[in-house]
Amino acid sequence: MKFVLVAGARPNFMKIAPIMEAFQVRRQSSPGFEVLLVHTGQHYDHKMSDDFFKDLGIPEPDINLGVGSGTHAQQTARIMVGFEEVCMQHQPDWVIVVGDVNSTMACTITAKKLGIRVAHVEAGLRSRDMSMPEEINRLCTDVLADLLFTTDRIADENLRREGVPQERVVFAGNTMIDTLLRHAERARATQLPEGVEDNEFAVFTLHRPGNVDDVQKLRGICGAVAEVAQRIPIVFPAHPRTLARLKEFGILEQFGNGANVRLISPLSYLPFLGLVMHCRMVLTDSGGIQEETTVLGIPCITLRSNTERPITCEIGTNILVGNDPVRIRDAAFSVLDCTSRGGSIPEKWDGQAATRIVDRLLSEMNTTGGPAAPIGH
Ligand code: UD1
Repeated sequence: MKFVLVAGARPNFMKIAPIMEAFQVRRQSSPGFEVLLVHTGQHYDHKMSDDFFKDLGIPEPDINLGVGSGTHAQQTARIMVGFEEVCMQHQPDWVIVVGDVNSTMACTITAKKLGIRVAHVEAGLRSRDMSMPEEINRLCTDVLADLLFTTDRIADENLRREGVPQERVVFAGNTMIDTLLRHAERARATQLPEGVEDNEFAVFTLHRPGNVDDVQKLRGICGAVAEVAQRIPIVFPAHPRTLARLKEFGILEQFGNGANVRLISPLSYLPFLGLVMHCRMVLTDSGGIQEETTVLGIPCITLRSNTERPITCEIGTNILVGNDPVRIRDAAFSVLDCTSRGGSIPEKWDGQAATRIVDRLLSEMNTTGGPAAPIGH
């Protein structure tokens, strides 16, 4: 049986690492399968891609489509054209996609139209916010996938309500947390940026188009962050999109001399996780960081008005504040004043998710081991 595992953008890499590893472990006892790793090249900077492969010990991709940046349609189309060739040439039985980026959706559509079965890891997350490209990617992927691996019971329920047959849904846990638990000690030992003291700084990340592409919103958020920085130093690893907008809108000087905000390049996996482990709180609009901080018990102030990961608010350390500067500042101050709550860890976020996923996929060898539907019709 042949599997193709797809990764495209930064948040995918920590989700595929433990899946690759679990396949390698199982190969010793059940050798009758092959795995090809395809990198679409959606993210291509060393700091956004190669460094993650090195930190996480992911083998070199077998194929890199090198699609690069572009509009959503350009990027999605380039991935589809490249991935169709891969599927035609290698004829996999299963394509495995993770997360919610353009690569996830593009490879799902391509595979299904060739009659290839698709497994989606991190299925069923819903923000109900159709202005997010990721929400469109999640909906398209889940409606087509044959096997849907979920990270929590809320996602199971979302899929059930959308009419996905229950036998296609597998509550497996969270592969990103597998990676976090596996690398926690190495991450904790990484050097903090110079002049930054343990538990005496906050981390800030921002990259959602809804926050960074609008000058007023970006200015408001940065103003609030500069105010928070008057009480605690802030480390800000800037995403390329965000840095470009800060320059374009002339907002970068808000973080100039004396602002107490340390703007640095994007960090690879281990130094970033180490930074979060040692910080007092995180301000972010990321999806994955909401989950990582929940597991680490670090307060997370999320600069979005919705989340596809509500479990991190219900039982974790996450607080949604949107992009209103006053709410951002007040939430940060209340964390600094120690009035915020701790949290607990969601079920099956235990380091074993990838093993459950791979075992379920390999069980398909016994039940549906024959060739996939004909390709190219
Ligand atoms: C993508 C994902 C998002 C994820 C994020 C993490 C989609 C729709 N969005 O958003 O879900 O949270 O990755 O980073 O798939 N760029 C570089 N170097 C790179 C990659 C991108 O400079 O290696 C620049 C691009 O030129 C572009 C901008 O960053 O200007 C955005 O990149 P893109 O991949 O389109 O989307 P992200 O905002 O990174």
